[in-house]
Amino acid sequence: MFDGESGEAARQSMEILVALGKIYGAKRTVSITSAQIAGVSYKTIGEAGLSYLNDMAKNGAKVRVPSFLNPAGMDREQWKEMKVPAAFAEKQLEVLAAYAKMGIAQSCTCTPYLVGIRPKVGEHVAWSESSAVVFCNSVLGARTNREGGPSALAAAICGATPEYGYHLDENRVCDFAAHVECPLSSSTDFGALGAYVGGASKGKNVAFTGIKAASDDRLKALGASMAAWGSNALFNMKGVTPEFSVAEKPEKITIGKKEISEMKAKMGLPERPQIVAIGCPHASLDEISEVASLVKGKKVACELWVCTARQTKEKADKAGFTETIAQAGGRVVADTCMVVCPLEDMGFHITACNSGKAAKYLQTLQKQKVIFGDIEDIIFR
Ligand code: F3S
Repeated sequence: MFDGESGEAARQSMEILVALGKIYGAKRTVSITSAQIAGVSYKTIGEAGLSYLNDMAKNGAKVRVPSFLNPAGMDREQWKEMKVPAAFAEKQLEVLAAYAKMGIAQSCTCTPYLVGIRPKVGEHVAWSESSAVVFCNSVLGARTNREGGPSALAAAICGATPEYGYHLDENRVCDFAAHVECPLSSSTDFGALGAYVGGASKGKNVAFTGIKAASDDRLKALGASMAAWGSNALFNMKGVTPEFSVAEKPEKITIGKKEISEMKAKMGLPERPQIVAIGCPHASLDEISEVASLVKGKKVACELWVCTARQTKEKADKAGFTETIAQAGGRVVADTCMVVCPLEDMGFHITACNSGKAAKYLQTLQKQKVIFGDIEDIIFR
């Protein structure tokens, strides 16, 4: 591939992987079983990204392993009703078409693990969405670095990645220990914990103790928030995650009620939202069901989105949750999210969320005033 025997796109891709391997001192490449590719929203990649993808597709790029897309900048079916500008939609469809030519599934989700893509403990993959990376390393026990969009695409095309970072056991030991001594009762609490510990640990691997049990939904909220506030890519949780490996003398902190409530207060403002956006990372069917039961027979006072994967939305449609949410004035949105869509151009400036990751990026990437709280509080604020 490096010599160009598999075509120009594979040559360019292998060149990227070899360069990365040299920078990080990899001794060899490892085969991967899947790739998850970020850099899908036209809002984030712009014209330069689109022309790179078109060139790759023109040069015959084809993926060698099952490969999946991160969220795009709009719902492919509802973009007109959602008032996405037509010029944006045209470019977004071009991005998706370029990826489709390369054989990449149009899954458009940051939660591939909720729609059947769950690599096993020890399996090597190349995923790039930061919340999916931390879930993959921590909850599934599979191995991935925090790939950029181009390096994940290169790995997908070559079916391999350089072996460094989180692919090596010695880099998966936790050198930061966080003991939680208060009960956590919602995904918002886990998001606030993630923001606090992410900020304190600054990207180190974190070993949590004190949390006896946590659902996948809460672990995804925790990991996403840690990745956003601290660039973490791996945590272990005693008795919960498949791995628990702690250094001899880790840096230690303890988190109680005070730290969680102070963090929550820092993460949002006491305002009235123009839009409530749930589903960062993309909502599971259980989370959509929770919103449907909350709003059943009521009317919401502002716009309400529940962002999810299209496959999950189809299940929500069948279960009647989408209709219940629509009758209350809300919408189940697929393929995109509040952070990667052109939210400002759609007229929104004050957004409420229950996600630690969204609370951070809505402020920094979408210039929103943010309200952060539990679902029931933000929907009926
Ligand atoms: Fe997913 Fe968008 Fe959040 S990509 S993790 S819903 S910022």
